[in-house]
Amino acid sequence: MRHNLSEILEVIKDRRSIKPEQFSNRKVHQEIIEDMLNAAKWAPTHAKTQPWRFTVFMEEGLKRLSDFQSTLYKDTAKEFSEKKYLKLKERPLLCSAVIALGMKRQDIEKIPEIEEVAAVACAVQNMCLVSTAYGIGSYWGSGGVTYMDETKTFLNLSEKDKVMGFLYVGYPDIEWPKGQRRPLEYYTEWINH
Ligand SMILES: Cc1cc2nc3c(=O)[nH]c(=O)nc-3n(C[C@H](O)[C@H](O)[C@H](O)COP(=O)(O)O)c2cc1C
Repeated sequence: MRHNLSEILEVIKDRRSIKPEQFSNRKVHQEIIEDMLNAAKWAPTHAKTQPWRFTVFMEEGLKRLSDFQSTLYKDTAKEFSEKKYLKLKERPLLCSAVIALGMKRQDIEKIPEIEEVAAVACAVQNMCLVSTAYGIGSYWGSGGVTYMDETKTFLNLSEKDKVMGFLYVGYPDIEWPKGQRRPLEYYTEWINH
């Protein structure tokens, strides 16, 4: 054994989605966000394209994100909902950091897109595990303006790239939630002969 497996499994199992409305006012320091970003880059990546691109909103930057997404929603919503508008406006301001999750498409498009998306997802998981180890909540949200073209532009991404959502980060103001998963028999088929 090269590592302490039981500790690693504890962190993996303990990772939970904790939402901005469940965050306290205590601020996460930038060094911790850097620890998360430094863990992200160790994700597997086919041909080492390293397609993850992250935009970190902190402090006054959170206001920029709040203004951007609430205004975009207001200007484009087919059926405007005041509740949704306020959620888009207020959510970033409840966080210590919001990390926009981008996938930069390879110029030559050799690696299948699904694999680049998978690599970014692995990178996000690494960030979540680091935040869990610190006792810091994180939540991957893909609602709101995630899939709108304007969001790509706002995040300096190109047409071929993808926005994969936002990772909301903050100290929890709640008891750390318990998770539940189906047993391995549900999702595994063994073929032994
Ligand atoms: C790609 C991706 C997108 C997600 N988007 C949302 C979302 O838009 N809204 C939401 O409530 N949860 C979202 N989630 C979080 C899941 O709801 C959450 O992981 C699930 O409920 C399991 O809970 P856990 O993360 O605490 O184990 C997303 C998760 C992933 C992987």
